[in-house]
Amino acid sequence: MCLYELDLPEVLAFKDRVLTECSAVERCERRAIAVDLREDWPAPLLQAGLATAEAAAWLADGLRIYLSVVEAAALLTELGALSACGSQLGFEVESLGTDPMRVQARQTPAMQPYAQLWKGGLPDAPGWLAEHGWRPEVHDRAAVAAGYGRAQAGPSAGGFVVAIRT
Ligand SMILES: C[S@@+](CC[C@H](N)C(=O)[O-])C[C@H]1O[C@@H](n2cnc3c(N)ncnc32)[C@H](O)[C@@H]1O
Repeated sequence: MCLYELDLPEVLAFKDRVLTECSAVERCERRAIAVDLREDWPAPLLQAGLATAEAAAWLADGLRIYLSVVEAAALLTELGALSACGSQLGFEVESLGTDPMRVQARQTPAMQPYAQLWKGGLPDAPGWLAEHGWRPEVHDRAAVAAGYGRAQAGPSAGGFVVAIRT
């Protein structure tokens, strides 16, 4: 099994620095791919060895909010094209305008530089997935956190979608 981690070059460079400083040891094969996910990311991912004939598990947690509607739809369309039947995709779902944690963050001065980057992504991601070859199920986020023995970090009313490629 191989973990492909896709992120912006500066972020991966920072992570690598921290992981090296901590002498962290990988528990599986990890291939980091420096890309902007608004551009052509499937080509470098395929070049790095992604086997599209096999079902994959995709985690896009925390990413969608940084993308516009058009960018998020393009990303999910490309991701779907790389996903064999039975592949799974997971990410959080929330409303940028009404989610209590996001509203609170927008009102916190220290969060301004980050909140300004939020574009919101698709307004109804589970609905979009259902119309584009996925079977989505939305789970309560606090229940998902509890399932991993973790408390939810803030007052979020959001959920977590897990979708299966059909
Ligand atoms: C809130 S974090 C989520 C991190 C991830 N769930 C994890 O545990 O490492 C959002 C991530 O999306 C990345 N990101 C945002 N916009 C991106 C883009 N256009 N291309 C690639 N990565 C992007 C950020 O750099 C950041 O690492």
